[in-house]
Amino acid sequence: VWRIRLGAGTAAGWPAAPDTTMPGVGRALDSWGRHQQGNCGNAMRDILSRYVGRPPHTLLFGTGRHGKPYLRGPGAPKFNLSHTDGWALLAVCDSEVGVDVERIRTDLDPVALAERFFSRREVVAVRSGGPALFFRYWVCKESYAKALGKGLRNGMPEVALTLPADGPAGGPTEMTGSWRLYELAPDPDCPAALVVGARDSGPAVVTQWTWTPTGAPESMEGAHWPDSSTARTSLSPA
Ligand SMILES: CC(C)(COP(=O)(O)OP(=O)(O)OC[C@H]1O[C@@H](n2cnc3c(N)ncnc32)[C@H](O)[C@@H]1OP(=O)(O)O)[C@@H](O)C(=O)NCCC(=O)NCCS
Repeated sequence: VWRIRLGAGTAAGWPAAPDTTMPGVGRALDSWGRHQQGNCGNAMRDILSRYVGRPPHTLLFGTGRHGKPYLRGPGAPKFNLSHTDGWALLAVCDSEVGVDVERIRTDLDPVALAERFFSRREVVAVRSGGPALFFRYWVCKESYAKALGKGLRNGMPEVALTLPADGPAGGPTEMTGSWRLYELAPDPDCPAALVVGARDSGPAVVTQWTWTPTGAPESMEGAHWPDSSTARTSLSPA
């Protein structure tokens, strides 16, 4: 998982959009990729290019039935993107993946929203946990919806969570169908969650990196965010 600070400069040296002068690269083929501009779009291309060993501006994207973007080409890793005020997160994985990050807002009524979108048990939790806990539940559920590729247009996924009230669990929680949930905290005010699909090679090892816009492709450095390792989340069907 890569965190990208939004508005913190751009990676110099590459065109952000696919090179339409390349044979076979039509504009219609990649409408999602062409609209990924600015710092976030550059960072995303820079990061993904390292996984596939191809120049950033040659990467081409498609979108699934409900709009989930994917990287085209043989052996392309799966990825998912989320942005909020100040940060974007890019998750890259060899199995299906969903990520969501939200900045905690205090101008919303968390209980009213929970009553609309969450299970009864989750509403009870949000009543005592307030906006911070509400947003933790939200990102967990939305990242699951994004891993499934469905998004939220057809409602919240029907899964009920029990998150530890005193802070994110560090380790994975097993979900139905071998999905695993990880709570993340790229910023104390921005809860995030990652949901990873079943992998032939066993559970995912989640590495947290910070993308830095050095502009020099070979000198990009990553840094681990603080993380803990105890799984304390539990999950059951709604
Ligand atoms: C993606 C989605 C789940 C919401 O995203 P969001 O919280 O607004 O924004 P995020 O930053 O977390 O995610 C957006 C990214 O997810 C990805 N995405 C888009 N559709 C997706 C899908 N079906 N599945 C997984 N990922 C998807 C894209 O990369 C998108 O980035 P882009 O905006 O640069 O194209 C959207 O599909 C959706 O369902 N929106 C409806 C929201 C809604 O109905 N809310 C009701 C409650 S108020």
